[in-house]
Order: sequence, then structure tokens, then C-alpha cells
Amino acid sequence: MSNPVYVALDTTDVAQAAELAAGLSGLVGGVKLGLEFFVANGPAGIEAVAALGLPVFLDLKLHDIPNTVAGAMKGVARLAPRYTTIHASGGFAMMKAAVDAARAEATAAGRPPTKVLAVTILTSIDQPAMEAVGFGGSVLDQVRRLAVLAQAAGIDGLVCSPHEVETVRTMVGSDMTLVVPGIRPAWAEAGDQKRIMTPRDALERGADILVIGRPITGAQYPAEAARRIAEELA
Ligand code: C5P
Repeated sequence: MSNPVYVALDTTDVAQAAELAAGLSGLVGGVKLGLEFFVANGPAGIEAVAALGLPVFLDLKLHDIPNTVAGAMKGVARLAPRYTTIHASGGFAMMKAAVDAARAEATAAGRPPTKVLAVTILTSIDQPAMEAVGFGGSVLDQVRRLAVLAQAAGIDGLVCSPHEVETVRTMVGSDMTLVVPGIRPAWAEAGDQKRIMTPRDALERGADILVIGRPITGAQYPAEAARRIAEELA
């Protein structure tokens, strides 16, 4: 089994991200860089971290009209991250435009395509917040609806909470990549994550990729923390 852990480098500092990535090489499956990092450092910042050799998950959560998302996705695909994200609530046409653009760009460059993952409902959205924006039904119903729509649009995978992953796996079958944040080894602090799960439990419930930030990046010795997680999963 390849290492399923992508470490979330939640920083805007290129040197700090690069130092962490270099120190974790061989101990994690890849690194996740998000919107804050991208806004601060642009494509050059992504390239600087990617140059260290670990696969990159570029978490931008795009959401706009299909034409604009397709244009942005072409730029993302030129950076050749292993994974990237869009919002499923952007709709079928937007999701399809995103995957089509990612695949076309990769084909033109002779590379394997970036896998496009859809975010269903952000974990920061609870039932009252959903109703306030006019979405009816329960959060889980909405997650299910968007998962089906994403699969129909040809999306490669979904981001889900550890507590949804089992339901989502049953619905979408084995061909979608399920990426799960909110992961905490039993020995780590929860921080602000409320609904957490251990790495092994999340894999057993159907996760393919585990996004883990502070238990690694906030540890006194990040490489030791990553090694311990990898050993627990082996
Ligand atoms: O430090 P921690 O392990 O909590 O970091 C988790 C990472 O996953 C962060 O980059 C966070 O933004 C992201 N994330 C999350 N929950 C989601 C989606 C993404 O924690 N539902």
C-alpha cells in the first residue's frame, strides 16, 4: 500500500513549507497546499514545493461559472498537482467543465491528468447554516445528492468528513477517490477539529487519502510524527 497520508502545509511561507516537505519526504504520500498559500505565493510557490519531489494536492475549492472554472483548471493542470478541488455545489456543468479541462490539458502535455475532487458540504456548515442559505433537507442528504451529481459529472473523487466516508463509499462504489480530513492519531491533540477519527478507522471506513495537518506540522519532530502514523498504518 502506498502511503495514504497527505500532510496539510497550512502556511503562507514558502521556505517553511519547503523545509517541512523536505523533512517529510518518504514519510508521507504527499503534501496539501491550500488557497492561503496559493494567494500568497502563486504558481511559483507551488512549483518551489513540488520541486522537492512529493506529490502535491492543490486545494483551491474552485466555484464559479463553468467557463471560468475551466480556464482556472487549465492553469492548475499546468502545475500538474496529483489532486485538486472544486465545489460540487457549482453544479453538474461546472464540474464537467473542470474535469474536461484538467484532462485536456494533461493530454496535451502528455501527462497523467490531475484528479479533480469535489467538496460536497463544508464541515463548517451545520444545519442552521444550510437553511440560512436556502438549502433544504439534512446535511447528510445534501452530501448524498452532491456525491451522486459529482459522480455523474465524471469527478474523480470526493472530500468527506470521517463520519460520512462510510455512507459515501457505499453510494459511489470503489472507483472514486475519497479524501478525508479531520484525522487525529489517538496520541494527538484534537485542536479545533470536533468530529475526528484515527487514521486506521478512517481507512477501514473506505478512505483512500488522509489529510493530516497539525498532528504532524505542529509536532516537536514532524518527521517522527509522520513515521509513527505510517508505522501504525503499515
Ligand atoms: O491540522 P488539521 O489536521 O486539522 O488540518 C486539516 C486540513 O484539512 C486543513 O488544511 C483544513 O483546512 C482541511 N480541511 C478540514 N476539514 C474539511 C476540509 C478541509 O480540516 N472539511
